[in-house]
Amino acid sequence: MSAVAPKAVATSLVEVKNLKKWFPIRGGILSRVVANVKAVNDVSFGVRKGEVLGLVGESGSGKTTVGRTILRLIEPTEGSISFDGKDITHLPKGELRTYRRKMQIIFQDPFASLNPRMTVGDIIAEPLVIHHLASSAQARNERVAELLQTVGLNPDHVRRYPHEFSGGQRQRIGIARALAVDPDFIVADEPVSALDVSIQAQVVNLLQDLKDRLGLTILFIAHDLAVVEYISDRIAVMYLGKMMELSSARELYRNPKHPYTEALLSAIPTPDPTIKRDRIVLQGDIPSPINPPSGCVFRTRCRYAIPACAETVPELREVSPGHFKACIRDDIL
Ligand SMILES: Nc1ncnc2c1ncn2[C@@H]1O[C@H](COP(=O)(O)OP(=O)(O)OP(=O)(O)O)[C@@H](O)[C@H]1O
Ligand SMILES: [Mg+2]
Repeated sequence: MSAVAPKAVATSLVEVKNLKKWFPIRGGILSRVVANVKAVNDVSFGVRKGEVLGLVGESGSGKTTVGRTILRLIEPTEGSISFDGKDITHLPKGELRTYRRKMQIIFQDPFASLNPRMTVGDIIAEPLVIHHLASSAQARNERVAELLQTVGLNPDHVRRYPHEFSGGQRQRIGIARALAVDPDFIVADEPVSALDVSIQAQVVNLLQDLKDRLGLTILFIAHDLAVVEYISDRIAVMYLGKMMELSSARELYRNPKHPYTEALLSAIPTPDPTIKRDRIVLQGDIPSPINPPSGCVFRTRCRYAIPACAETVPELREVSPGHFKACIRDDIL
């Protein structure tokens, strides 16, 4: 059964419809497909122009796969992706180039994602060269200096190498590189998870500031709801390749409607004393995405599960304006 897509918002920059990404597992001497890892299994959502959409869920829930599929870094198995009203699902490589410029990614690990043998200046200039965006060496140098300044780094450090910078500074270099081509949309894939907690807020604040100044639209991936609370306009919660809940950030924190979101929220401390939560410990491990539970994939760990939850895949439906949940029970939460 296919989930019903949230009503298309006219102002969506990115629109994902019934997206599936299955990774085949091959075996035997004939190398036949013996099973599939259902990394993303029928997910629909939009990212509105100018918003930060937080995408959260435990490790293995399919967040990175969603982000990389939107950017067409990996090919979808089924479903469609559109950008600024144009279906880019099957765009050939040549045409994709134009869109690649408009969509950029910031990676989780600023240590692994920067070439250690290149200077910071060359790292940031590389996309300018690839996309022919600087008319001369001087124009390129000026743009690199400007980008360094934009992300709060000293332009005089342009000839230094990545190892001469701290983790937070390296992530700023990664952000400058993503911004070099003047993108409209950025997938930030756990951009602060590898950083010290004390540095995380600085980088999140930088992204927030850049979003406002440059009018960016951001898909901000995190496994922890605490990280995305302040930067996100809306939040989407994934579990085992499925979208569980989607709403404005404020509503999601104050009035979660899905048991999985409730459990994720119970794990983070609240600064607001009017919100009291008991810690909910999810029993057991996440089931295998090769053979997910029937019906609701969360039911094996859900404290509200009833026999009917095993029967049908719950659709992501609107339970109050702009608030969607994939759960058949309306008598809880
Ligand atoms: N190239 C691949 N081949 C096979 N399986 C894959 C591949 N990439 C991802 N997977 C599987 O797909 C599922 C979703 O992975 P994904 O990396 O999207 O999750 P995630 O939510 O980003 O997790 P994390 O928080 O750990 O980054 C996992 O079970 C993962 O093992
Ligand atoms: Mg990931």
